[in-house]
Amino acid sequence: MYRSLDFRTSLPDLATHLRAETSGAHHSLETSLDLLRRPADRQGFLEVLERFHGFHAVWEGAIRTRSTYAAFHASRARLPHLRRDLAALGRTTAEMRMLPHCLEADALVDGAARTLGSIYVLEGSTLGGQVIARELADSGWLPRGGLTYFNPHGRRTGEMWRGFRTWLGDQEVDWDETVEGARRTFALLESWAAR
Ligand code: HEM
Repeated sequence: MYRSLDFRTSLPDLATHLRAETSGAHHSLETSLDLLRRPADRQGFLEVLERFHGFHAVWEGAIRTRSTYAAFHASRARLPHLRRDLAALGRTTAEMRMLPHCLEADALVDGAARTLGSIYVLEGSTLGGQVIARELADSGWLPRGGLTYFNPHGRRTGEMWRGFRTWLGDQEVDWDETVEGARRTFALLESWAAR
């Protein structure tokens, strides 16, 4: 079902193309992470957040220092959310500093198109974050103020996603390379973060 069309060309836009081309990778990651297991498991969730921390610490650093998308991405950085969530779950700053870094995430920031595909994956994860937030709400162990990494924008999620899609649609990049960047990102997250 492709509802989102670029009306200038009547072709699916890049975000729609990315979604179609990576739906298998999305399903595989979602299944491996098993974030919706019931009852939601505090220790398991903490470990997943620690792994995402290791990913974002490297990936966001590479975007900030080497990518032409640094300015766009600055307001969408998620490392502060991870640090906040890990603290809320009892991790000290010293413990966070000791967490392993996903060094391979650096190579995802590799030319405009592949970087864009990678950014698409992490931006899209805020949509699934809505489902995860609902599940966590019933967990019984959610810290005061909740957890924000998977749902960083709350009620503004739709607005932020539409903003991202509009911006993405304005980028002139090779679509195949963008898909490659997105697939590599899903694959790395699965090998790095799945339990
Ligand atoms: C339990 C875990 C997850 C669930 C339940 C979930 C569910 C969803 C849902 C409901 C959507 C809305 C769009 C649609 O109907 O396809 C979505 C979109 C998306 N999710 Fe997930 N997701 C999960 C985890 C993740 C993770 C960990 C990532 C990547 C780090 C991710 C990346 C994406 C992307 C890129 C999209 C955008 C698809 C588009 O272009 O519309 N998701 N997800």
